[in-house]
Amino acid sequence: MDSFIIEGGTPLKGIVQVSGSKNAALPILMAAIAVDSRVTYTNVPDLRDIHTTIKLLNLLGRPAVLKDGTVEVENGELGIEAPYDLVKTMRASVLCLGPLLARKGEALVSLPGGCAIGARPVDQHLSALEKMGAQFDLKNGYIHGHCPTGLKGAKLQFDFPTVGGTENVLMAACLARGESVLENCAREPEIVDLADFLVQCGAQIEGQGSSVIRVQGVDSLHGCRYRIMPDRIEAGTFLIAAAVTGGELLLRDCPVNAMDAVLGKLREAGMSIEERADGVLARTGGDGLLGVDISTQPHPGFPTDMQSQFMVLMCCAQGSGLVQENIFENRFMHVQELVRMGADIRISGSSAMVRGGRTLTGAPVMASDLRAGAALVLAGLAAQGTTRVQRVYHVDRGYEHLVEKLAAVGAQIARVKDVD
Ligand code: UD1
Repeated sequence: MDSFIIEGGTPLKGIVQVSGSKNAALPILMAAIAVDSRVTYTNVPDLRDIHTTIKLLNLLGRPAVLKDGTVEVENGELGIEAPYDLVKTMRASVLCLGPLLARKGEALVSLPGGCAIGARPVDQHLSALEKMGAQFDLKNGYIHGHCPTGLKGAKLQFDFPTVGGTENVLMAACLARGESVLENCAREPEIVDLADFLVQCGAQIEGQGSSVIRVQGVDSLHGCRYRIMPDRIEAGTFLIAAAVTGGELLLRDCPVNAMDAVLGKLREAGMSIEERADGVLARTGGDGLLGVDISTQPHPGFPTDMQSQFMVLMCCAQGSGLVQENIFENRFMHVQELVRMGADIRISGSSAMVRGGRTLTGAPVMASDLRAGAALVLAGLAAQGTTRVQRVYHVDRGYEHLVEKLAAVGAQIARVKDVD
């Protein structure tokens, strides 16, 4: 296993190119299953979860390769099984369920287990697909779905605006017979990106980005060439890296239109964020950083995927701030590690009170999940002394070339092999 060694305290300065979005690329690559000819994707990030998705596409009979940010997916005879060995490493594998049911009328997908940030069930994906005519049995840890007479359009409402559920059902609805009306949909920018891709493939979709999406089913979808949107969470993480090191970064291809809530909170916390023709320039304003409150919500609210990183900013700010986590249970696993670095954070249920103004000091710490790992890297960059972040395979799932990108703007960071 690898670790990152970070010597903190260097202000970051320079230009960062934002990578393609992981959370957009995963469903959009999976949507190739619903398409019956060659698809070309560009701006695809080189990440572990993307490699897992490519393996899954290959196993399912859609030969796919990633080279220099481009993924080519060829046509082929579709299989139906997403095996445990792949699904256990990436929950998003469950996104093949909707397109497989739509194309093959059958799918055998390993049930994703719990994960570090909570139980994360898929009950809403299944009940929505049932309304469209699918039937499910649970067999040997696998969801076996079938719909012998094909999927039919339906009017349905999600109990909660689930991101993956909206994506799975949207892909299925494109090839279902007749009209589907999906209510209380998630409104995340990655869903809009998926819908835009499907429309380019010939799907008839209206309302993406709002809570009601209408889909007129079509007989088939054809391939296209599609550029994946830039990663708003990676961009937000770099903005915080500039803040906590007292640096100045220019982010190229920063998806500002998808980042209102995060940019608003960063400005409230005292950052200067300037939208320029050549990118977004971020630096800490003259009065330094101030504590602010955040409360995670479905989009357009503050994203849960930025909660842990923002907490590091609050540790470095003057004053206190309250963090309320509303999306996932158990998403404060970074807190005890930050406390070991000198942070003053108290958890009470789903909220955490952060008292800022402390000097963080380097320590050996362990990443427990992707965004918790990102927070520990940020804390290491801000801290005095040396931080060793262990289990960085979590971070590798979601940040493309993080060490190289940070080092290029002045961070003292290196990847090392652990010796056990
Ligand atoms: C996606 C993102 C993830 C982000 C999350 C919330 C991807 C690959 N992942 O995850 O980075 O943190 O959105 O913005 O895009 N739930 C149920 N039943 C369901 C589905 C969800 O109870 O059938 C619950 C989950 O346990 C969780 C909440 O709803 O508490 C949000 O889940 P959801 O929006 O589905 O997130 P994901 O799609 O898994």
